This record gives sequence, structure tokens and C-alpha cells, in this order.
Amino acid sequence: MNMPVDQQAIERDYQIKQQDYLELYQSSLEENDVFWLEKAKTLEWMKAPTQGFEGGFEPGNVNIKWFADGVLNVSTNCIDRHLVQRASDTAIIWEGDSADEDKHISFQELHDEVCKLANALKKLGVEKGDRIAIYMPMIPEAAYAMLACARIGAVHSVIFGGFSPNAIADRVNDCQAKVVITADAGRRGTKSVPLKANVDAALSNNACPSITHVLVFNAVGLDVPMGSVDVDAATILAECDSHCEPEPMAAEDPLFILYTSGSTGKPKGVLHTTGGYLVYAAATHKAVFDYQPGEIYWCAADVGWITGHTYIVYGPLANGATTVMFEGVPTYPDERRIGQIVDKHNINILYTAPTAIRALMAKGEFAGEGSSRESLRLLGSVGEPINPEAWHWYHRVIGNSRCPIVDTWWQTETGGMMITPLPGATEMKPGSATNPFFGIEPELVDNEGKALEGATEGNLIIKRSWPGQARTLWGDHERFEQTYFSTYPGNYFTGDGARRDEDGHYWITGRVDDVLNVSGHRLGTAEIESALVSHPAIAEAAVVGYPHDIKGQGIYVYVIPVAGTEVTDELSKEVVSWVRKELSPIASPDLMQWTPGLPKTRSGKIMRRILRKIAADDFASLGDTSTLADPGIVDTLIENRMNRG
Ligand code: PRX
Repeated sequence: MNMPVDQQAIERDYQIKQQDYLELYQSSLEENDVFWLEKAKTLEWMKAPTQGFEGGFEPGNVNIKWFADGVLNVSTNCIDRHLVQRASDTAIIWEGDSADEDKHISFQELHDEVCKLANALKKLGVEKGDRIAIYMPMIPEAAYAMLACARIGAVHSVIFGGFSPNAIADRVNDCQAKVVITADAGRRGTKSVPLKANVDAALSNNACPSITHVLVFNAVGLDVPMGSVDVDAATILAECDSHCEPEPMAAEDPLFILYTSGSTGKPKGVLHTTGGYLVYAAATHKAVFDYQPGEIYWCAADVGWITGHTYIVYGPLANGATTVMFEGVPTYPDERRIGQIVDKHNINILYTAPTAIRALMAKGEFAGEGSSRESLRLLGSVGEPINPEAWHWYHRVIGNSRCPIVDTWWQTETGGMMITPLPGATEMKPGSATNPFFGIEPELVDNEGKALEGATEGNLIIKRSWPGQARTLWGDHERFEQTYFSTYPGNYFTGDGARRDEDGHYWITGRVDDVLNVSGHRLGTAEIESALVSHPAIAEAAVVGYPHDIKGQGIYVYVIPVAGTEVTDELSKEVVSWVRKELSPIASPDLMQWTPGLPKTRSGKIMRRILRKIAADDFASLGDTSTLADPGIVDTLIENRMNRG
């Protein structure tokens, strides 16, 4: 099935030609500030920056600033400056969960809605620098909310709609949010997500004392109970003006916080700032998708994740693109939906995740039936390694064997794409993210931090700063330094491993820390373990990932019951729903093994290497187990393993 890829299948005068890449890349490193200050000119500044990068990655003094003397507003860059010539052009195409619902929102409408909402927030007492939690379905109001915060200088923190009340409360409390923007409920396929009820539960018993108001949109017509902090969005918006002066923001003022999982402890509030982030979002969106005016672009992510921030909202709108926002899921009403949406809106560029591709691929050719997808010219992949089989299926069935694929590697912390092909300029290799973007200097190192040369495999670090880089973790700069800059001092450590081939192309192999990637969702094993041990029947838990055909990684849970507990199927089911409720349905254990003990060293450290091997049903070479406190436990674990083949 692995057919050769026709590089020239789509004739096009690409912005960046093959021979240009190396030259441009070299000069972007050699004259880094010049390169980025030039890119910064594509934005509209209230005061243009004259400074490029300032600071460094030195341990104990990690300090990152870009364009520090510049002043701008993100919402005017994404909206107002396009009004001059394109007020009636479509900014957002919204495709509903149900195939017969859609909406076109022009730049003028976007402007008016964002300004009204910004004024509503002001009315509720929101000021520059205040934090606002956004817990919304995939409806245009989610984008309005983000841009309204940006307009008045409030810092948004979008919480993925799949998170449960506890997870909402943790995030709201960590950043001391003042207002939550939410909706009655959200729809995803056949499911309804009770967003308002989840917020009520998160706030119950005064669990989130910083919240003064909850602004509630009516998305599906539910009659939700309104309490004393609740404000009906339609009512307050009706009283608000559609003009709102944009707040002048220093380039290094915070734009948003986005919580993401790490290998230890609670989720981390990754902080992105205004100028550098927007320059990077716009520059990568433009170059990697070779975006040309008038093209219809669809990133099928959720705004609750960084991909939705950078490539549904900020990057495309900064470039004046028409961006598609999809409320539903790719398998509803069935696997043909993606193709149908592409045809319906004449979409030219489609950016999605390998997990979605594999879910469609599971039904063979069906996903391609009933649509021509002739409008497509470029495909993108993000979020996890794409296996060559899925790559070829995507290329052949969705892309009709004629669209290049950009496999883009990046992270919440990087703000935008870091290692990625450029269509027309990079040879496509199924499974490889290929080359660093301009200004990005990756290196592979061994565990001691020694740089590895040539074709090799190692830990992926980035040696110098780039404008889209996270500046800190909200309220915990020490953890920021510790997490990203202490392992290989003076460098940014990605937490990923990678291989470099003879051509110098990078192949991301996945996380080298205790972070899982389940259906493209990033989850910390520690978070799931803490949800598990909060169950009264569980004394101890260890969570590892294992290879999963559709999800990429599945969640394998080892649990030790509290003494005297009777382990039954009902109890196992109850534990699964407990985790779903405590944390999120996305953290739902796939396989659960009850065990009397775990493999621990004599100092009490769990040997996860062994647990990972058993979970993968690959325990022929477990390595040295002689240092275990109780080596016998390994046989018991193998005997009762849950993954057989
Ligand atoms: O392991 C890498 C994987 O996703 C991680 C980042 O997850 P998150 O912060 O949620 O951001 C996802 C969207 C950018 C990375 O550390 N990852 C992301 N893209 C790729 C990838 N792994 C392989 N190939 C990719 N293209």
C-alpha cells in the first residue's frame, strides 16, 4: 500500500522553494533578530519594536523577551486591520455538530461581536491583567471570548470542554480567575456535555472564591438554573456597544495561560505573551500552509488545546484567513463527515490529528465515499507521531494522492510549529516531521547532555529562543526553569525523543518522560494516579502508556486495593467512572490490573520501565530486576497482565 509520493502532484508557485529553504534557514540563525524583526513587520503595531530577543536560558536566570519595546493589540491584528478592504469577507465558517447547521461570520460581524463581549466583560468589572476562564463548546462565541479578552488586555485561560469539575476548579484557582465564560451545554456527536452544570459543581461550596461572575451563553437552548453569580450573556450583550477601544499592550504583556500536563504534580499554567506569540503564530501559519489570500483553511482541533489557539484563532485570523471551526467529531454522523465538510465549504487546507485519521482509516475507504475533496491542496498532521500507514491512507483517501502533507511537530510550550516540512520546499517522508522551522535550532543529546552528530537518536533539545516560546509557568517560574531548562542546562528540553536520518531529517519518537499522548491529548501519569488513589478502595496506583491502534497510546492502570477490599468487575467499572468524573473522560483507563504490589526498588521507587514492558505485552527482556525489593512481584504481574497480543 506504500505508494511513492508524487512531490509535484500539485502545481503551485510556492512561496518558499526547495533551494531557498537551506539558505533562508541559515540566515534566520545567523541574523536571528533581523529575521524576526522583519517577520514582526507583518503585524500592525501601535509602536513598532526595535528590539529582537533579550535574555537567555542560563539556569537560575531564565529570562525570555521578544520585541520588548513594541506595543500592539492582538484583536486589532486579527480583526480591525482586515476591515479596511475585507469587512464583508468571511472570517469564520462555523460548521455545527449537525450537518445542516452552519454560519458564516464576516470580519465586520466578528469585530462587532468581540467588541460587545469585551464591553460586557468591562461591565462585569474585568480589567487589564485579570484572568478569565473560558469553558465553552466549539461555537464562534469561544473565539469571540478569546479575542474579547485580548481586546481589553485580560488574560484568558481556556479549559477544554472535556474536563470535569475538579479539573476546572484546579485551573481556576491556580490562576485566580475572576470570571468564567461558559454555555448551557455543548454537543459532540450524539453526546451533550453539561458545561454549565460542571461549572456549578466546580464552584460549589465556595471552592473557587476568586470568581465574581459566570457569563452563560445559550448554545443549545437548555433551561439551566441561574444562581447569584450567573449572568445571562444574551441579556448583557444586548446592552453593550459594538465599539471598544483596543487596549495598548506591551509585547511582553501576558496574552493567555493554557494548562497542560507534566510528568509530575498538577497541570502547569503555560504562559504566552502578546507580541512574540502573535508574530510566531502568523509566520508559521503563513509559511507552513503556504497560505494565500482567499483560501479556506480548516484546523479540526478544539480551541481548548494549543492547536486551536494558534491555528484556529490567532494565526489564521492574524493573516486574514477564512478559518473553519467545527463543533462536532469526525465520526458523526459517520466517517464520511470530514470529506463532506471539505466539499460543502470548498476547503483548501485541512489540518488534523493522526488519532482522527486512524479512526477514519479503521473503516477502510468509507471515509472517502460521497465526497470529491477536489478543493483540497494541502493536508497537515499534528499532535502525535503519524505512523506511515496512516500517513499513506490520509494522502491517498482524503488527499486523492495529490496533496502534500505537512507533519508538524510542536508543543503547548512552543506556541507554534517547530519542526515541519514546508510544502514545495521539503521532500515528504511519511512519518518524519523533517526540518526545523526558520530560527529554530534543534539538537539531539544523550542522557548526559552530550551532543550527538549525524544520523542518530537522542533527546530533543532546542538551543536558542524563538518568539512563540512560553515565558513562564503562571505563578511558578522556578518550576518553569526546573522543568524545561535544568535537564540540559542552557537549553530548552522538549521532553521528546527523536531520530535524525542521513538527510538530517527529524523523526519524533515520542515522550521520554512520564507524559502520555492519548488520542492526541496530553496527560500526565501523575494526574491519573492521583485521581485513582482518591478512590476509597485504592491504596496505590501506577499508570503507564501502551501502544494502541487508534489512540496511539492507551492508558494502562496498575492498582493495589485497600486491604480487605473485594475486587469485582463492578468495582473496576466504578473506578473507571471515578477517573472520568474526577479528571476527564479522556483520562479513562483502557486496561486495569489489580495487583497485590508494584515493582519497587529498595528505596521505594516504582520501576516504571518494567510496568511499561508488561503493559505492552513485551516482557522477554525486562532487564535487571535484581535490585527490586520483591522480585517475585514481576511474575505475578506478568501472569495477570491485561494486554495479551
Ligand atoms: O510528544 C510530542 C507530541 O505532542 C506533544 C505536545 O503535546 P501538546 O503540548 O498537547 O501539543 C500538541 C499540539 C502541538 C509533543 O511533546 N507531538 C506533537 N506533534 C507531533 C508530536 N509527536 C510527533 N509528531 C508530531 N507531529
